[in-house]
Amino acid sequence: MKAIIVYPPKAGVWLKEIDFKEKVGSNGVLVRTLENGMCGTDRGIVNGTLTFSRPPDGYDFLVLGHETLGIVEEVGDAVNEFKKGDIVVPIVRRGCNSCFNCIIGRQDYCETGKFREIGIRGLHGTMREYFTDNEENLVKIPSGLRHVGVLLEPLSNIMKTFEEIELMQRRMIWNCNDSSYECRNAAILGSGPIGLLFALMSASKGFEVFVMNKREPFEAELKVVEAIGAKFIDTTKDELGEIDLLIDTTGYPSAFIPLLKKIKNNGVLVLFGTASGDQYNLSTEDVNHIVESNIAIIGAVNASKKNFIEGAEYLNSWNSKYPGVLESMITKKLKPEDSVEYLKNKPKGEIKTIITW
Ligand code: BGC
Ligand code: ZN
Repeated sequence: MKAIIVYPPKAGVWLKEIDFKEKVGSNGVLVRTLENGMCGTDRGIVNGTLTFSRPPDGYDFLVLGHETLGIVEEVGDAVNEFKKGDIVVPIVRRGCNSCFNCIIGRQDYCETGKFREIGIRGLHGTMREYFTDNEENLVKIPSGLRHVGVLLEPLSNIMKTFEEIELMQRRMIWNCNDSSYECRNAAILGSGPIGLLFALMSASKGFEVFVMNKREPFEAELKVVEAIGAKFIDTTKDELGEIDLLIDTTGYPSAFIPLLKKIKNNGVLVLFGTASGDQYNLSTEDVNHIVESNIAIIGAVNASKKNFIEGAEYLNSWNSKYPGVLESMITKKLKPEDSVEYLKNKPKGEIKTIITW
Protein backbone atom coordinates (compact mmCIF):
# COMPACT_ATOMS: atom_id res chain seq x y z
CA MET A 1 0.00 0.00 0.00
CA LYS A 2 0.96 3.62 -0.38
CA ALA A 3 2.51 5.37 2.62
CA ILE A 4 4.22 8.66 3.35
CA ILE A 5 7.57 7.86 4.91
CA VAL A 6 10.49 9.67 6.50
CA TYR A 7 13.95 8.62 7.73
CA PRO A 8 14.32 10.56 10.99
CA PRO A 9 16.40 12.28 12.17
CA LYS A 10 17.36 12.86 8.51
CA ALA A 11 15.36 15.38 6.50
CA GLY A 12 13.18 14.34 3.54
CA VAL A 13 9.79 12.77 2.81
CA TRP A 14 8.60 10.24 0.23
CA LEU A 15 5.37 8.63 -0.94
CA LYS A 16 6.25 4.94 -1.35
CA GLU A 17 4.76 1.51 -1.72
CA ILE A 18 5.30 -0.45 1.55
CA ASP A 19 4.53 -4.02 2.65
CA PHE A 20 1.64 -4.23 5.07
CA LYS A 21 2.58 -6.97 7.51
CA GLU A 22 0.35 -6.09 10.44
CA LYS A 23 -2.25 -8.73 11.36
CA VAL A 24 -5.56 -7.94 13.02
CA GLY A 25 -5.22 -9.55 16.47
CA SER A 26 -8.19 -10.49 18.67
CA ASN A 27 -8.30 -6.99 20.19
CA GLY A 28 -7.23 -5.39 16.93
CA VAL A 29 -9.06 -3.18 14.47
CA LEU A 30 -8.18 -2.69 10.81
CA VAL A 31 -8.79 0.91 9.83
CA ARG A 32 -8.88 2.44 6.35
CA THR A 33 -7.45 5.94 6.48
CA LEU A 34 -9.81 8.64 5.24
CA GLU A 35 -7.82 11.76 6.06
CA ASN A 36 -4.66 12.99 7.74
CA GLY A 37 -3.92 16.47 8.97
CA MET A 38 -0.50 18.07 8.53
CA CYS A 39 1.02 20.04 11.38
CA GLY A 40 4.20 21.69 12.60
CA THR A 41 5.35 18.43 14.18
CA ASP A 42 5.14 16.64 10.81
CA ARG A 43 7.00 19.46 9.10
CA GLY A 44 9.64 19.49 11.87
CA ILE A 45 10.25 15.77 11.22
CA VAL A 46 10.30 16.26 7.45
CA ASN A 47 12.76 19.15 7.71
CA GLY A 48 14.97 17.33 10.21
CA THR A 49 14.55 19.91 12.99
CA LEU A 50 12.48 17.70 15.31
CA THR A 51 15.40 15.61 16.46
CA PHE A 52 13.52 13.33 18.88
CA SER A 53 11.70 11.64 15.99
CA ARG A 54 12.76 8.02 15.36
CA PRO A 55 11.59 4.95 13.39
CA PRO A 56 10.10 1.91 15.17
CA ASP A 57 12.61 -0.69 16.41
CA GLY A 58 13.80 -2.81 13.51
CA TYR A 59 12.94 -0.26 10.82
CA ASP A 60 15.04 2.37 9.10
CA PHE A 61 11.97 4.40 8.11
CA LEU A 62 8.93 5.82 9.88
CA VAL A 63 5.45 6.14 8.42
CA LEU A 64 4.51 9.75 9.18
CA GLY A 65 1.09 10.89 10.44
CA HIS A 66 -0.58 11.34 13.81
CA GLU A 67 -3.63 13.47 12.92
CA THR A 68 -6.04 10.88 11.62
CA LEU A 69 -9.58 10.15 10.57
CA GLY A 70 -10.38 6.56 9.58
CA ILE A 71 -13.16 4.06 8.98
CA VAL A 72 -13.23 0.58 10.50
CA GLU A 73 -12.86 -2.21 7.92
CA GLU A 74 -12.45 -5.30 10.11
CA VAL A 75 -12.39 -6.12 13.83
CA GLY A 76 -10.77 -8.94 15.86
CA ASP A 77 -12.84 -11.63 17.70
CA ALA A 78 -12.62 -9.94 21.09
CA VAL A 79 -13.58 -6.45 19.89
CA ASN A 80 -16.98 -5.28 21.16
CA GLU A 81 -16.80 -1.53 20.95
CA PHE A 82 -16.25 -1.17 17.20
CA LYS A 83 -17.82 -2.50 14.03
CA LYS A 84 -17.19 -2.14 10.31
CA GLY A 85 -18.11 1.34 9.14
CA ASP A 86 -17.43 3.17 12.43
CA ILE A 87 -15.57 6.46 12.10
CA VAL A 88 -12.52 6.49 14.38
CA VAL A 89 -9.56 8.58 15.49
CA PRO A 90 -6.49 6.95 17.10
CA ILE A 91 -4.79 8.50 20.13
CA VAL A 92 -1.14 9.43 19.55
CA ARG A 93 0.93 8.51 22.57
CA ARG A 94 1.40 4.96 23.83
CA GLY A 95 2.56 4.51 27.42
CA CYS A 96 5.81 3.15 28.85
CA ASN A 97 3.86 0.48 30.82
CA SER A 98 5.94 1.12 33.92
CA CYS A 99 5.05 4.49 35.45
CA PHE A 100 1.74 5.01 37.24
CA ASN A 101 0.53 7.72 34.87
CA CYS A 102 0.98 5.46 31.84
CA ILE A 103 -0.67 2.53 33.64
CA ILE A 104 -3.82 4.58 34.22
CA GLY A 105 -3.92 5.90 30.64
CA ARG A 106 -2.31 9.27 31.36
CA GLN A 107 0.71 8.69 29.16
CA ASP A 108 0.57 12.40 28.35
CA TYR A 109 2.14 12.71 31.83
CA CYS A 110 4.61 9.81 31.36
CA GLU A 111 7.27 9.94 34.06
CA THR A 112 9.96 7.85 32.38
CA GLY A 113 9.98 9.38 28.90
CA LYS A 114 9.88 5.85 27.46
CA PHE A 115 6.54 6.40 25.71
CA ARG A 116 6.08 6.14 21.94
CA GLU A 117 4.01 8.28 19.59
CA ILE A 118 2.53 7.16 16.28
CA GLY A 119 4.11 8.90 13.31
CA ILE A 120 6.51 10.79 15.61
CA ARG A 121 8.69 8.52 17.73
CA GLY A 122 9.03 4.76 17.68
CA LEU A 123 5.71 3.76 16.09
CA HIS A 124 4.48 3.96 12.52
CA GLY A 125 1.92 6.66 11.89
CA THR A 126 -1.21 6.77 9.79
CA MET A 127 -0.25 8.52 6.56
CA ARG A 128 -0.94 5.26 4.71
CA GLU A 129 -3.93 3.56 3.18
CA TYR A 130 -4.58 1.22 6.12
CA PHE A 131 -3.39 0.72 9.67
CA THR A 132 -4.21 -1.59 12.56
CA ASP A 133 -4.52 -0.64 16.18
CA ASN A 134 -5.83 -2.12 19.41
CA GLU A 135 -9.35 -1.02 20.22
CA GLU A 136 -8.19 0.68 23.42
CA ASN A 137 -6.29 3.23 21.31
CA LEU A 138 -9.25 4.25 19.15
CA VAL A 139 -12.00 6.77 19.77
CA LYS A 140 -15.28 6.50 17.89
CA ILE A 141 -16.88 9.70 16.64
CA PRO A 142 -20.40 10.27 15.28
CA SER A 143 -20.60 9.90 11.49
CA GLY A 144 -22.07 13.42 11.42
CA LEU A 145 -18.61 14.70 12.37
CA ARG A 146 -16.82 12.95 9.54
CA HIS A 147 -16.25 16.21 7.63
CA VAL A 148 -14.34 17.81 10.54
CA GLY A 149 -13.21 14.78 12.57
CA VAL A 150 -9.62 15.20 11.38
CA LEU A 151 -9.45 18.20 13.74
CA LEU A 152 -10.02 15.99 16.79
CA GLU A 153 -6.37 15.09 17.37
CA PRO A 154 -5.12 18.70 17.49
CA LEU A 155 -8.17 19.58 19.59
CA SER A 156 -7.37 16.82 22.09
CA ASN A 157 -4.19 18.72 23.00
CA ILE A 158 -6.26 21.81 23.74
CA MET A 159 -8.64 19.79 25.94
CA LYS A 160 -5.66 18.52 27.93
CA THR A 161 -4.26 22.02 28.27
CA PHE A 162 -7.55 23.43 29.59
CA GLU A 163 -7.72 20.56 32.05
CA GLU A 164 -4.30 21.69 33.32
CA ILE A 165 -5.30 25.36 33.42
CA GLU A 166 -8.48 24.70 35.37
CA LEU A 167 -6.74 22.39 37.84
CA MET A 168 -4.01 24.97 38.38
CA GLN A 169 -6.53 27.73 38.93
CA ARG A 170 -8.25 25.81 41.71
CA ARG A 171 -5.41 27.22 43.83
CA MET A 172 -7.82 30.15 44.48
CA ILE A 173 -11.14 31.46 43.21
CA TRP A 174 -10.79 32.34 39.55
CA ASN A 175 -14.45 32.33 38.56
CA CYS A 176 -16.26 35.62 38.19
CA ASN A 177 -18.95 36.60 40.70
CA ASP A 178 -21.60 35.07 38.43
CA SER A 179 -19.61 31.77 38.61
CA SER A 180 -18.55 32.00 34.94
CA TYR A 181 -15.26 33.19 33.36
CA GLU A 182 -16.98 36.12 31.71
CA CYS A 183 -14.90 38.72 33.52
CA ARG A 184 -11.68 37.05 32.29
CA ASN A 185 -9.65 37.76 29.17
CA ALA A 186 -7.67 35.20 27.23
CA ALA A 187 -5.04 36.15 24.66
CA ILE A 188 -3.75 33.59 22.21
CA LEU A 189 -0.47 34.17 20.45
CA GLY A 190 -0.53 32.67 16.99
CA SER A 191 -3.48 32.14 14.68
CA GLY A 192 -2.72 28.70 13.23
CA PRO A 193 -5.00 25.69 13.80
CA ILE A 194 -3.87 25.34 17.42
CA GLY A 195 -4.33 29.05 18.11
CA LEU A 196 -7.81 29.02 16.60
CA LEU A 197 -8.83 25.86 18.46
CA PHE A 198 -7.61 27.50 21.69
CA ALA A 199 -9.73 30.51 20.74
CA LEU A 200 -12.81 28.34 20.20
CA MET A 201 -12.28 26.59 23.55
CA SER A 202 -11.65 29.84 25.42
CA ALA A 203 -14.81 31.33 23.94
CA SER A 204 -16.79 28.23 24.96
CA LYS A 205 -15.44 28.60 28.48
CA GLY A 206 -16.76 32.17 28.58
CA PHE A 207 -13.53 34.17 28.20
CA GLU A 208 -13.28 37.33 26.18
CA VAL A 209 -10.84 36.18 23.50
CA PHE A 210 -8.03 37.92 21.62
CA VAL A 211 -6.18 36.14 18.83
CA MET A 212 -2.80 37.68 18.07
CA ASN A 213 -0.35 37.65 15.20
CA LYS A 214 2.25 40.07 13.87
CA ARG A 215 0.32 40.63 10.66
CA GLU A 216 -3.20 41.15 9.38
CA PRO A 217 -5.46 38.09 9.58
CA PHE A 218 -6.03 35.85 6.58
CA GLU A 219 -9.63 35.62 5.44
CA ALA A 220 -10.07 32.10 6.83
CA GLU A 221 -8.67 33.17 10.21
CA LEU A 222 -10.96 36.18 10.41
CA LYS A 223 -13.95 33.99 9.66
CA VAL A 224 -13.29 31.85 12.73
CA VAL A 225 -12.36 34.78 14.96
CA GLU A 226 -15.48 36.76 14.05
CA ALA A 227 -17.83 33.77 14.27
CA ILE A 228 -16.90 33.18 17.90
CA GLY A 229 -17.00 36.86 18.86
CA ALA A 230 -13.24 37.10 19.42
CA LYS A 231 -10.96 39.97 18.36
CA PHE A 232 -7.90 39.76 16.13
CA ILE A 233 -4.93 41.80 17.26
CA ASP A 234 -2.27 42.63 14.67
CA THR A 235 0.64 43.30 17.04
CA THR A 236 2.32 45.60 14.53
CA LYS A 237 -0.62 48.00 14.92
CA ASP A 238 -2.76 47.29 17.98
CA GLU A 239 -1.87 46.82 21.60
CA LEU A 240 -3.17 44.16 23.92
CA GLY A 241 -4.79 45.24 27.20
CA GLU A 242 -4.50 43.39 30.52
CA ILE A 243 -5.21 39.68 30.46
CA ASP A 244 -5.81 36.74 32.78
CA LEU A 245 -4.65 33.97 30.48
CA LEU A 246 -1.90 34.09 27.87
CA ILE A 247 -1.51 31.08 25.62
CA ASP A 248 1.57 30.95 23.42
CA THR A 249 1.34 28.70 20.38
CA THR A 250 4.39 30.16 18.63
CA GLY A 251 7.25 28.82 20.77
CA TYR A 252 9.08 32.15 20.40
CA PRO A 253 10.23 33.77 23.67
CA SER A 254 10.48 37.07 21.79
CA ALA A 255 6.72 36.83 21.20
CA PHE A 256 5.48 36.00 24.72
CA ILE A 257 8.07 37.43 27.13
CA PRO A 258 7.25 41.06 26.24
CA LEU A 259 3.59 40.28 27.07
CA LEU A 260 4.29 38.88 30.55
CA LYS A 261 3.65 42.23 32.19
CA LYS A 262 0.12 42.24 30.73
CA ILE A 263 -0.84 39.23 32.86
CA LYS A 264 -2.93 40.21 35.86
CA ASN A 265 -2.80 38.89 39.43
CA ASN A 266 -3.13 35.09 39.68
CA GLY A 267 -3.02 34.77 35.91
CA VAL A 268 -1.58 31.99 33.79
CA LEU A 269 0.94 31.75 31.00
CA VAL A 270 0.57 28.57 28.95
CA LEU A 271 3.44 27.49 26.73
CA PHE A 272 2.18 25.18 24.04
CA GLY A 273 4.18 25.95 20.91
CA THR A 274 7.75 24.84 20.32
CA ALA A 275 10.28 26.37 17.95
CA SER A 276 14.03 26.71 17.54
CA GLY A 277 16.58 29.47 17.17
CA ASP A 278 15.01 32.31 19.17
CA GLN A 279 16.35 33.88 22.36
CA TYR A 280 14.92 36.62 24.53
CA ASN A 281 15.96 37.69 28.01
CA LEU A 282 13.73 37.50 31.02
CA SER A 283 14.35 40.70 32.99
CA THR A 284 14.30 41.06 36.76
CA GLU A 285 11.16 43.21 36.30
CA ASP A 286 9.52 40.23 34.59
CA VAL A 287 10.60 37.90 37.40
CA ASN A 288 9.28 40.36 40.01
CA HIS A 289 5.97 40.56 38.16
CA ILE A 290 5.64 36.77 37.99
CA VAL A 291 6.43 36.45 41.71
CA GLU A 292 4.36 39.38 42.97
CA SER A 293 1.35 38.39 40.85
CA ASN A 294 1.33 34.63 41.54
CA ILE A 295 1.61 33.93 37.85
CA ALA A 296 1.57 30.24 36.96
CA ILE A 297 3.56 29.06 33.96
CA ILE A 298 2.30 25.82 32.48
CA GLY A 299 3.84 23.67 29.77
CA ALA A 300 1.43 21.33 28.00
CA VAL A 301 1.92 18.52 25.50
CA ASN A 302 -0.09 15.64 24.12
CA ALA A 303 -3.46 14.34 25.39
CA SER A 304 -5.12 11.28 26.88
CA LYS A 305 -8.02 9.29 25.44
CA LYS A 306 -10.39 11.12 27.79
CA ASN A 307 -9.38 14.39 26.15
CA PHE A 308 -10.20 12.96 22.69
CA ILE A 309 -13.62 11.83 23.91
CA GLU A 310 -14.37 15.24 25.40
CA GLY A 311 -12.97 16.98 22.32
CA ALA A 312 -15.49 15.15 20.13
CA GLU A 313 -18.28 16.68 22.25
CA TYR A 314 -16.92 20.16 21.62
CA LEU A 315 -16.53 19.50 17.87
CA ASN A 316 -20.16 18.45 17.87
CA SER A 317 -21.33 21.56 19.67
CA TRP A 318 -19.26 23.96 17.54
CA ASN A 319 -20.47 22.20 14.43
CA SER A 320 -24.03 23.22 15.25
CA LYS A 321 -23.31 26.51 17.01
CA TYR A 322 -20.99 27.93 14.32
CA PRO A 323 -22.17 26.40 11.02
CA GLY A 324 -19.41 26.19 8.41
CA VAL A 325 -16.69 27.47 10.72
CA LEU A 326 -14.87 24.21 11.46
CA GLU A 327 -14.96 23.27 7.77
CA SER A 328 -13.46 26.63 6.89
CA MET A 329 -10.40 25.73 8.98
CA ILE A 330 -9.59 23.01 6.45
CA THR A 331 -8.02 25.31 3.88
CA LYS A 332 -6.60 22.67 1.52
CA LYS A 333 -7.33 19.04 0.65
CA LEU A 334 -4.61 17.12 -1.18
CA LYS A 335 -4.16 13.72 -2.77
CA PRO A 336 -1.25 11.71 -1.29
CA GLU A 337 0.71 12.26 -4.53
CA ASP A 338 0.57 16.03 -4.08
CA SER A 339 1.10 16.14 -0.34
CA VAL A 340 4.86 15.58 -0.20
CA GLU A 341 5.64 19.13 -1.35
CA TYR A 342 3.21 20.57 1.19
CA LEU A 343 4.84 18.62 3.98
CA LYS A 344 8.07 20.42 3.19
CA ASN A 345 6.64 23.93 3.09
CA LYS A 346 3.60 25.50 4.63
CA PRO A 347 1.48 27.31 2.02
CA LYS A 348 0.52 30.91 2.68
CA GLY A 349 -2.91 31.34 4.22
CA GLU A 350 -2.98 27.77 5.55
CA ILE A 351 -4.99 26.87 8.60
CA LYS A 352 -5.15 23.09 8.18
CA THR A 353 -3.99 21.19 5.11
CA ILE A 354 -5.26 17.63 4.91
CA ILE A 355 -4.49 14.56 2.84
CA THR A 356 -7.47 12.55 1.60
CA TRP A 357 -6.80 8.86 0.85
C1 BGC B 1 0.98 15.98 18.78
C2 BGC B 1 1.15 15.45 20.19
C3 BGC B 1 2.58 15.05 20.43
C4 BGC B 1 3.50 16.20 20.10
C5 BGC B 1 4.95 15.81 20.24
C6 BGC B 1 1.96 17.08 18.51
O1 BGC B 1 1.86 17.50 17.18
O2 BGC B 1 -0.32 16.45 18.58
O3 BGC B 1 0.30 14.35 20.37
O4 BGC B 1 2.75 14.66 21.76
O5 BGC B 1 3.28 16.63 18.76
O6 BGC B 1 5.72 16.95 20.43
ZN1 ZN C 1 -0.03 17.42 15.01
